[in-house]
Amino acid sequence: MTTKNTSQPVTRRDFLKLGIGALSALALLEVGGASLIFLQPRSLEGEFGGMVTAGLVDSFPIGSVVEFTNGRFYLVRSHDGGFLAVYRRCTHLGCTVEWEAQENRFFCPCHASSFDLVGNVENTPAPRALDTFPITIDAGQIIVDTGTIQTRDAFAPDQLVYA
Ligand code: FES
Repeated sequence: MTTKNTSQPVTRRDFLKLGIGALSALALLEVGGASLIFLQPRSLEGEFGGMVTAGLVDSFPIGSVVEFTNGRFYLVRSHDGGFLAVYRRCTHLGCTVEWEAQENRFFCPCHASSFDLVGNVENTPAPRALDTFPITIDAGQIIVDTGTIQTRDAFAPDQLVYA
């Protein structure tokens, strides 16, 4: 009695095709996985671009200026108790302004523009007041929306937010 072998031997060409197919599938899986991670929405809570909780109203003395580095703003409490969240980007060419407490001003180190406590231009070349962010006060907590930049030519009293 004779038996017939029906299985075909695997050729080198078949083996290479199988290997290339497996590697391609693996590469597609990696790209797909990386894309999913990249496309996931990232929470900006507490960072620039998102909502930043600055703290309780009473923790900011009258006339104080407190920098929030992660939110890229200064929280200003004016002399009548109102709040202003001042974007620290200079309105000339975008450098970061610094608060100089002894001079009671914001100063831009790039071209020496300066701004008063509420962000009005004192020294050019900055063309207009520093931008601000909207503030809401909820149960005594000051919350700054750093995803919404408010441009302005100059300070006006109705820009202040009160508790
Ligand atoms: S960038 Fe601030 S003065 Fe030029």
